[in-house]
Amino acid sequence: MENQINGLKRREFLKGTAKLTLATVFIGPVSSKLLGATSNTPKNILIPTVTLNNGILMPILGFGTNTLKDSIGIQCVSDAISVGYRLIDTAHIYGNEEAVGEGIIRSGIDRKELFITSKVWVDDSGYEGTKKAFEKSIKKLGVDYLDLYLIHRPRGDVKGSWQAMEELYEAGKIRAIGVSNFLPEQLEQMKTYAKIEPVINQIETHVFFQEKISYPYLKNSPTQIEAWSPFAAGRNGIFSNPTLAAIGKKYQKTNAQVCLRWHYQRDVVAIPRSSQKSHMIENLNIFDFELSEADMNTIATLDLNKTQFPEWG
Ligand SMILES: NC(=O)c1ccc[n+]([C@@H]2O[C@H](COP(=O)([O-])OP(=O)(O)OC[C@H]3O[C@@H](n4cnc5c(N)ncnc54)[C@H](OP(=O)(O)O)[C@@H]3O)[C@@H](O)[C@H]2O)c1
Repeated sequence: MENQINGLKRREFLKGTAKLTLATVFIGPVSSKLLGATSNTPKNILIPTVTLNNGILMPILGFGTNTLKDSIGIQCVSDAISVGYRLIDTAHIYGNEEAVGEGIIRSGIDRKELFITSKVWVDDSGYEGTKKAFEKSIKKLGVDYLDLYLIHRPRGDVKGSWQAMEELYEAGKIRAIGVSNFLPEQLEQMKTYAKIEPVINQIETHVFFQEKISYPYLKNSPTQIEAWSPFAAGRNGIFSNPTLAAIGKKYQKTNAQVCLRWHYQRDVVAIPRSSQKSHMIENLNIFDFELSEADMNTIATLDLNKTQFPEWG
């Protein structure tokens, strides 16, 4: 699919509009005191968007919900929306779609203001399985459409799943369709049958796994990169890493904020999870500083070039 939006390639468009869209996306009231900032007056956080290859806008920073279930899940999703998140990432396999849906209702926000992602799990792969799984997911979430639906892993009958998702997209039940955990060769394989190219590939990437192959491949394709576990789920001492701390000190930012700013400056959508409201707020406060080229080069040296989740292989 030729990736042109008003005559601009997506990446150019993103670069040109990331700041412009700051003015037009949602506004969340956030106490800067909680962020360790000097003023304790409430300030507005504006989350930039990326433009996906079908022209729809997606917040570049969202909220991950894996492991946040039941009453904790309800509370966290409601809190996340209340502090300003609009992109909410869930999946059938997380077993929390009902809690996410309840958290959305509790937040009181209009569903149309949200960008809700869910994913079809391996057990439901194939044409029929995916259609049924989609219906179950929206029912549990209490919504009548999804903003983004992803094939969670490249296993089983991917071709059948994709055909089902293309039909759901064309029927207006999903605003955008994509994949997760796909290698470049698996995306190339999809091109042999897909009528629609994936808008997103959600993959593991963080400072310890910078994806030297998938990152450049996706940057040069119409498929946007989305980072799962943008903090490596806290592994490998990320929140106390001295290199990140030294960089953060210059800008009065935490390791978490340096990590999220690094994703942002790489044009990567990130979906950090937190069960603590103070962390949710801290993680939003990344749009008022800029890592220098030297900082980016220093962070590049942290790459271990391998997954931090070998058990999920
Ligand atoms: N597609 C896939 O296969 C896939 C796989 C994994 C994950 N995901 C998605 O990606 C999302 C994020 O990944 P993740 O949940 O694995 O982990 P993550 O977002 O990388 O890290 C979460 C951890 O970071 C901590 N944390 C968050 N903000 C912090 C801060 N400011 N300071 C210190 N600690 C902080 C959290 O603890 P507190 O609760 O104490 O804040 C939690 O322990 C998931 O929730 C899910 O939606 C997708």
